[in-house]
Amino acid sequence: MSERALVHTALPHIHVFADQHETATAVAASIRELVTRVPWARISYATGNTMIPVYEAVKKLVDDNSVSLTETTAFHLDEYYPCSPEEVYSFVKFLRSKVFEPFKLKSDHIFELRGDGTNPEESASAYEAAVIKEGVDLAILGIGPGCHIGFNERGTPFTARTHLAQLSQETIRRDHEERRLPTPGQALTQGIGTILDAREVILVAYGREKGQYLKEMLDGIVSEDCPASALRTVPDKVHLFIDEAAARIIEG
Ligand code: F6R
Repeated sequence: MSERALVHTALPHIHVFADQHETATAVAASIRELVTRVPWARISYATGNTMIPVYEAVKKLVDDNSVSLTETTAFHLDEYYPCSPEEVYSFVKFLRSKVFEPFKLKSDHIFELRGDGTNPEESASAYEAAVIKEGVDLAILGIGPGCHIGFNERGTPFTARTHLAQLSQETIRRDHEERRLPTPGQALTQGIGTILDAREVILVAYGREKGQYLKEMLDGIVSEDCPASALRTVPDKVHLFIDEAAARIIEG
C-alpha cells in the first residue's frame, strides 16, 4: 500500500492513497494502532457509504484476531429524527450491524443516539452529557452535501453541542435519491463543538464530488457557511484520509 502526503497550508495531515480500498484499509490500520495503544479507547462512529469499506476492513482485523475492540466504547455521530432503529435508514440499525456486533463490543460500552424518543431536545442533552462524561479519543467523520460533518449543515455555529438539526434541502435530496425512500427532515447530531472536543479526528473521503467539498473546506475561509472548515481551528488533531481522485480535485 502506498501513501503520499498532500501538502496544504490549511491542514498538516492529509494522507492520500491510490483508491477507496487502500484508503479504508489505512483508516482501519489507524484504528488498530489507537486500540493497541489505548485498549479502552472511546470512538465516535459516522455512518454512510464512505464508512462501509472502513468498517469492513476493521471487521477483517477483528476476525483475524489482529485487534480486539472489546474494551472500547462506542458513540454515534448522528441519527435521523424521528426514527426507530427498525427503519431501513436508521443509523442505529447501521451501526449495530456494521460496527457494534461485528466489532464484538460490550453492550454496556455502547452509547446509542436514538431517534425514537418523544423529547428530542432532552435526548440530545442527555447524549451530550454522556459524551462529555466519557470523552472521545477518536471521532471518525465523513463529509457530505454543503460540507456538512455529522448533520451540522451550513450556518451551524462552531460552538454547537449535540442538538436536533434541520437538514438542508441538498442533504434531503441526496438521501432521497440514494435510498429511494423519504427520510426525515431532521436529525439528532453531535454538534461541531462536540466533535472538536475529540482528542483526534479522522475524516474519510473518496472521489471527485467529495474532493469538491474538501477543496471548499481547505481553500475557502473558515466560516460557519462551511461546517467542515471548523476542523481547521484544530489542525494538529485532524487527519484526512482520502483517495487520489479526491486529492486531484484539491490540487487542481
Ligand atoms: C453520517 C454523517 C454524514 C456523512 C456524510 C457522507 O453519520 O454524519 O455527515 O458522513 O453525509 O455520507 P456518505 O458517506 O454516505 O457519502
